[in-house]
Amino acid sequence: MTNIFLIGFMGSGKSSVASYLSREYKMEIVEMDQLIVEREGMSIADIFAKHGEHYFRDIETNLLIEIQGEQNQVVSCGGGVVLREQNVSEMRKSGQIVLLAAKAETILERVKGNDDRPLLQGNKNVDFISEMMEKRRERYEQAADVVVHTDGKEIAQICHEILERIETIGE
Ligand code: S3P
Repeated sequence: MTNIFLIGFMGSGKSSVASYLSREYKMEIVEMDQLIVEREGMSIADIFAKHGEHYFRDIETNLLIEIQGEQNQVVSCGGGVVLREQNVSEMRKSGQIVLLAAKAETILERVKGNDDRPLLQGNKNVDFISEMMEKRRERYEQAADVVVHTDGKEIAQICHEILERIETIGE
């Protein structure tokens, strides 16, 4: 099985989908944010505060290169991974890119109880989220091989759709 890279805005469900796919379909899970936190020994918020966003983006790029060494992985990417063109080409080298799309209202519901995301700190409202999504929309859409809409769907259904769509590519 090719690698599956899950991209999408913060709170689009990448981690939940990755953990379901890894459990039900025996794929190796790579949680990019979590791995970075473990390796750096500090939270994402602290990495941003101490070293800046550019430093964090460099770690993401290096991790994507490292990931190419294995197959059958489901990779839950940080929401900003598509901001670098190079990251998209690194992902393509070893797998397919799946965009999980959700409405700003759905995103807000999913992120509101959590303070781990420095870019949303103090900005947890639909207007801010919609604006940031709009700024990134083109990036997400251009990167995606497959787009799955997640609003109102169960995780199992989303995973089923992903696998169905991935399998039909190249047939
Ligand atoms: C970011 C998304 C976060 C994390 C960091 C930056 C972004 O990941 O990588 O806070 O720029 O969208 P999640 O999408 O897993 O929340």
